[in-house]
Amino acid sequence: MCPLKVTSLLTNIFPVHDLTCFSAVAGSIFTCAGILILLFCFKIKISWHKCLSFWESKAEDHRKIEAFLNNHGSYAPKRYNYSEVKKITSCFKNKLGQGGFGIVYGGSLDNGSQVAVKVLNELNGSGEEFINEVESISRTSHVNIVSLVGFCFEGRKRALVYEFMPNGSLEKFIYEERSENVRQLGWPVLYKIALGIARGLEYLHRGCITRILHFDIKPHNILLDEDFCPKISDFGLAKLCVKKESIVSMLGARGTIGYIAPEIVCRNLGGVSHKSDVYSYGMMVLEMVGGRKNVDAGADRTSEIYFPHWLYRRIEQDEELQLIGIMNEEEKEYAKKMVMVSLCCIQTDPLNRPSMTKVMEMSEGNLDSMQIPPKPYLYTSSRTEVDSSAVELAYSLSAVLSAVILL
Ligand SMILES: *[C@@H]1O[C@H](CO)[C@@H](O)[C@H](O)[C@H]1NC(C)=O
Ligand SMILES: *[C@@H]1O[C@H](CO)[C@@H](O)[C@H](O)[C@H]1NC(C)=O
Ligand SMILES: *[C@@H]1O[C@H](CO)[C@@H](O)[C@H](O)[C@H]1NC(C)=O
Ligand SMILES: *[C@@H]1O[C@H](CO)[C@@H](O)[C@H](O)[C@H]1NC(C)=O
Repeated sequence: MCPLKVTSLLTNIFPVHDLTCFSAVAGSIFTCAGILILLFCFKIKISWHKCLSFWESKAEDHRKIEAFLNNHGSYAPKRYNYSEVKKITSCFKNKLGQGGFGIVYGGSLDNGSQVAVKVLNELNGSGEEFINEVESISRTSHVNIVSLVGFCFEGRKRALVYEFMPNGSLEKFIYEERSENVRQLGWPVLYKIALGIARGLEYLHRGCITRILHFDIKPHNILLDEDFCPKISDFGLAKLCVKKESIVSMLGARGTIGYIAPEIVCRNLGGVSHKSDVYSYGMMVLEMVGGRKNVDAGADRTSEIYFPHWLYRRIEQDEELQLIGIMNEEEKEYAKKMVMVSLCCIQTDPLNRPSMTKVMEMSEGNLDSMQIPPKPYLYTSSRTEVDSSAVELAYSLSAVLSAVILL
């Protein structure tokens, strides 16, 4: 009955009475549907796989975190969830600053101690990388390194909770108006800060379990506690964050150009190593000494544009250093020591720069035993001394240009 009915129905639809035509149409419809179903199943299978591997990697991250927290016992930094981070920072109300890797907010823990919470920018690293970095940061423990109190890892939301440094970054304190012959920080404090940073860097390079190279030493990344004891911050993150900034913007906008070792920009000058941090350290200490940027295009006289060369000439000719705010012989000695050490640090050839251990020894040692370091030139060819500031300016320009070419 039924098939007959269907046939009659179909013959009504296909009035041609041509059932072969009908079966051809039906056949192709069924084939199409079959293919679609197959594709559909296939797709489900693929997304199922994706789903599985997603959960597997999540589980893997989870295992890593658990293992990490277990291995470190009471020393492990505390893990906070995102709602706790929100609570600590009072819903991200108090913005302290913005670094290359994210925004830093002030906050306080339940027990009342103040913290700085760095909420990291979008990360493309896996959770495992993040945990590895947290682990390596949390393994460091030194008075001159900012210590990590806790971290947050919740999906893509990641944050690091650091101890709070009430006096902020060194950057605020070192650049002076030349017209007023006073300094915000006296020479003994400046010397103590320079020595503290050297100790911290030496520890990173040598003292902790895995060698850590910072690559972004600059006044902005040196924080000061209530006694102006310096603490190095912002290391270990470079690997984690999406590199949004190109070298050029790094050189330009963030004002980092003055601190980047030449071999980082021009690879043929030598390998990048811990000596690159030594260079940045030297440039930074020179700025502390000068109370000014090392390259100051607005200087009164061209010979003053590039501060290291101006200083070098004075040392070489045994003239007064004419630095701001020196009151007595002791302060003069602090200043001269800092100058001599940093001129050694900014040698163009990484091999000629001292290690941080040597820097510490020199800073604590006797001034008389120090020799005048060679002039920190980029072009060490037999070029006779043209105007050195012009050469240095050319260096800055060539650094920018080669960065452009590298891109
Ligand atoms: C976050 O942690 C706190 C304390 O451990 C807990 O009370 C809260 O339920 C957690 N929140 C979420 C969203 O997991
Ligand atoms: C508060 O807790 C943090 C982390 O648990 C700890 O590092 C800090 O020493 C505590 N502060 C005080 C005042 O107990
Ligand atoms: C992160 O992004 C950079 C460049 O965009 C890429 O080279 C790197 O492999 C990525 N890392 C991961 C873990 O995906
Ligand atoms: C440095 O920190 C201490 C302690 O918080 C504070 O009393 C002092 O005013 C700060 N100094 C400056 C110059 O901000």
